[in-house]
Amino acid sequence: MVAPVPGGAEWRRGRFVMRVVALRDDVLRVRIGRSRALPEDASWAVLPEARLHSVPVTPEPGGFSTKAVRVRIDAFTGTLRVTDLQGRPIVEDAADAPFSENDGAFTLTKALPEGMHIFGLGEKAGALDRRGRSFVMWNTDAYRYQESTEPLYKDIPFFIGFERGHAYGLFLDNTFRTRFEFGVRHPEQLSFGADGGAIDYYIMAGPTPKDVQRAYAWLTGPPPLPPLWSFGYQQSRFSYMSQAEALAVAHRMRAERMPCDVIWFDIDVLQNHRAFVVNETAYPDFPGLVEELGRLGFRAIVITDLHVERLAGYAPWETGVAGNHFVHDANGGIYIGKVWPGDCAFPDFTRKATRDWWGTLLRHEVLVDHVAGIWNDMNEPSVFGTPTRTMPLDNVHRIEEPGFATRNASHREIHNVFGMQNARATHDGMLALRPDRRPYVMSRATYAGGQRTSVVWTGDNSGTWNHLRMSTPMLLGLGLGGFAFAGCDLGGFAGSSPPDLLTRWLQLGMFNPIARGHADKGSRHREPYFDGEPHGTIRRAAIDERYRLLPYIYTLAEEASRSGLPMMRPLFMEFPDAAGGYALDLEGGNQFMWGSALLVAPAPYPEEVDRYQVILPLGDWYDYWTGARIVNPEPATLTGGSGTTAQAGDDPELMPHGIDRTPRLDLLPVFVRAGSIIARQPLVQSTSETPQGPLELAIYPGPDCHGSVYLDDGVSFGYRHGEYFRAGHRCSHAVDGSFTVRLGRHEGSFRPWWSHLELAIHDADAPKSPVTLDGADVPDVRYDAVTRVLRIGIADRPAGGSLVLPPHAVRQAG
Ligand code: GLC
Repeated sequence: MVAPVPGGAEWRRGRFVMRVVALRDDVLRVRIGRSRALPEDASWAVLPEARLHSVPVTPEPGGFSTKAVRVRIDAFTGTLRVTDLQGRPIVEDAADAPFSENDGAFTLTKALPEGMHIFGLGEKAGALDRRGRSFVMWNTDAYRYQESTEPLYKDIPFFIGFERGHAYGLFLDNTFRTRFEFGVRHPEQLSFGADGGAIDYYIMAGPTPKDVQRAYAWLTGPPPLPPLWSFGYQQSRFSYMSQAEALAVAHRMRAERMPCDVIWFDIDVLQNHRAFVVNETAYPDFPGLVEELGRLGFRAIVITDLHVERLAGYAPWETGVAGNHFVHDANGGIYIGKVWPGDCAFPDFTRKATRDWWGTLLRHEVLVDHVAGIWNDMNEPSVFGTPTRTMPLDNVHRIEEPGFATRNASHREIHNVFGMQNARATHDGMLALRPDRRPYVMSRATYAGGQRTSVVWTGDNSGTWNHLRMSTPMLLGLGLGGFAFAGCDLGGFAGSSPPDLLTRWLQLGMFNPIARGHADKGSRHREPYFDGEPHGTIRRAAIDERYRLLPYIYTLAEEASRSGLPMMRPLFMEFPDAAGGYALDLEGGNQFMWGSALLVAPAPYPEEVDRYQVILPLGDWYDYWTGARIVNPEPATLTGGSGTTAQAGDDPELMPHGIDRTPRLDLLPVFVRAGSIIARQPLVQSTSETPQGPLELAIYPGPDCHGSVYLDDGVSFGYRHGEYFRAGHRCSHAVDGSFTVRLGRHEGSFRPWWSHLELAIHDADAPKSPVTLDGADVPDVRYDAVTRVLRIGIADRPAGGSLVLPPHAVRQAG
């Protein structure tokens, strides 16, 4: 039977109980108990303030409704149906078999309508659209993984169902080994379940993909704003084998004028790969080196793996034993497994006391005074020499955690959150030691919600063309999974990428949230200067452009830190109403949006030399590199494997257009959406240098033309107390054909580095009468007839202002 409960409804039958409550009008939580009671109400992923939130609902026969959705539960079978208020299905249980269980394991089955695409599950290799495939969530050290390798390093059990114009999200909050399959066993059903643990899931009703994404960020928390320097180029290698080698890399980057902000230090900087202890033979003066790097404008990031070597006299081991901080085996002893240093113990990160202890280890002067970030690797956890590549499932962890019942838990339950809790301990430890600095932690393994304390990378990819191709859908998947700040090893980790491949990868990587080159021991070097010409020039140009775009990139990052919207976005997120299904590159996930203004369009098969078609969804576009407006694109004809383009009745206005491009080594096609204002800055060699000159506002006229700029000191939390700069700008045509740029008022107390603006208005004509700013003539107006760019220099004004161009200087779109 179905009965109302506060905020929702409850169904009971035999030993089963299902409670559905509305946390918000558009967010439902569903919990199912299998022994007459609901499971423990605790979560590593969902914020307590979201989990315990509620809104009033209207009880109705067999369910309830909110201001956005209607919930119906079948009194006999418990089948759950969620529709919008017009009755359009959002997500519904499969009528015949919504639920099955077997010895603690469970499976839930839902309808998968014919036209629905499935995205998400975070870091998964292969096509962006997950429909037609099965997945396992079990954090795994997957060295040299391939397109079909399952599982990988991270567990983000959240997916998005998308049909043109509508999306919903579903998050299964369960840390055991979980499984998802989308239309495999039955073409019109999807199912998900776990080997054990609670049945506890959330439905986000959309209706747009951005609504779903924001709701997921509301549940699990948006990723905090990383430091500005982390958006510069970063250089890593396993490993720079000596102090001299690391310093030489830094000097060479500067000498070659290849901008760079960070040098990463991998395990060979450590004595016997032992966390917190520098190898003083190879690095005789590590603090001095880091200071020297600082003078050259670099930050240092040091690897700090979680495994603690069993070694008498080694403080982390000794204090770890004394504080009972290590995971136990089934017999109650400290579990020892082999990793880089040899025999190691594993901190029990699900104990708050252990995380606090781990945080104090970071106090080591090297890590506190000189190091800007910490790299947590191997935290699936990876254990060498075992068939499972991890610790035994019956190892015993202790949950001693605010919000949880204190108890022992098997590794079977904790495995998938272990890496997340490791990164959390590092993050919280850095924060405790340096309360005024944003911690920067990069983690390999994680779970949903891990974005609150770390950024991630896609582990040990390979230096092959296929891996370059795979990097985009993987990073898009991570972005949809809440990890807006993610990167891959540019150039590929395992194996040696040839020069052409590295060049292409660096170009594409400049449009990834984290741009970090890294390489395996014994493989060819990946430093961008390594291959001589023409590669040096091409790679330098790509990195330079990243640095020029930093104001746009950082503004995007700040947006992600508030909204949870990823920086790299699949086309359907920006164009959910576009017609043409697969023409939107839903399947390949190769093209993507970099924020809402830029479309990045690498060749679908990057090693091929044939022409390919770039999809330009809805509206007008500009070529980013030439600044020219794209004229007369053709209707898109891309037909993915099973793809169709137009369907009968599609409005031609909503059809994406296409434009042909021939792959070139020296140019990655990038396009600007008409109606964008993009902030750019003069070139610097690292973010510790102050740009000299004006801030450029590149204006690409079109409908709803707008753009904003955000900046702060880049490292502290001052922005949370008003020490930031923000200005939103808009452009529009008046009836008489004149064009107005409304420069927004400056918000916040942070004083940015520029005093002047240079407006670069694209696709313009020479103005026939004066340009005015708040009524006064502007003297600095320059027109380039070849590029059709009109440049206007003005002093930036805290109060904003209206810049007016006379009629016909800027063509009116449409
Ligand atoms: C793992 C990491 C890799 C690192 C290596 C040595 O393979 O994924 O990035 O370089 O360990 O620490």
